[in-house]
Amino acid sequence: MGKTLVAYFSASGVTKAVAERIAEVSNSDVYEIKSEIPYTQADLDWRDKTSRSSFEMQNPSSRPAITDKVNNIKQYDRIFIGFPIWWYVAPTIINTFLESYDFSGKTIILFATSGGSGFGKTAEKLTDSVSTDTKIIEGKLFNGSLSNQDIKEWIDSIG
Ligand SMILES: Cc1cc2nc3c(=O)[nH]c(=O)nc-3n(C[C@H](O)[C@H](O)[C@H](O)COP(=O)(O)O)c2cc1C
Repeated sequence: MGKTLVAYFSASGVTKAVAERIAEVSNSDVYEIKSEIPYTQADLDWRDKTSRSSFEMQNPSSRPAITDKVNNIKQYDRIFIGFPIWWYVAPTIINTFLESYDFSGKTIILFATSGGSGFGKTAEKLTDSVSTDTKIIEGKLFNGSLSNQDIKEWIDSIG
């Protein structure tokens, strides 16, 4: 069986902390999805209709560039992908990430943090960015505090 990768995007560190714990508990490699142009505080202001994040999330074809690539993605069968929920779905940089590789035959497990929103249509909105034989599993929203045992049980339950 191939290895597992935990790839995540985190604008303010919340998802990063979760990703690092998932990687630790599952003994996986970890990769941070970084925007070529880092997000500033002003970029993240969702109250401002003209902010960068508002612009990107209103334009489903926006694909913020990523700084670098995962080393030898082929070695991974299972990829956890984590992100903050933005406007009820995944930030469009996650589409950039998915469209940067061939994930045919692989399983992608989503996890997210949010201010309270659930996954909603998040998984559905990502399917166009992968091939038809890529399996996307909705996974888990990490908003409360979870023990490593809880995380381990969740990972084991995915199989
Ligand atoms: C542009 C933007 C849009 C957001 N939209 C939502 C949302 O629709 N629902 C929600 O519950 N939280 C929303 N949030 C809050 C984030 O999902 C939450 O703070 C998350 O834990 C941040 O993770 P991070 O530190 O890894 O970036 C939004 C945050 C930003 C910056």
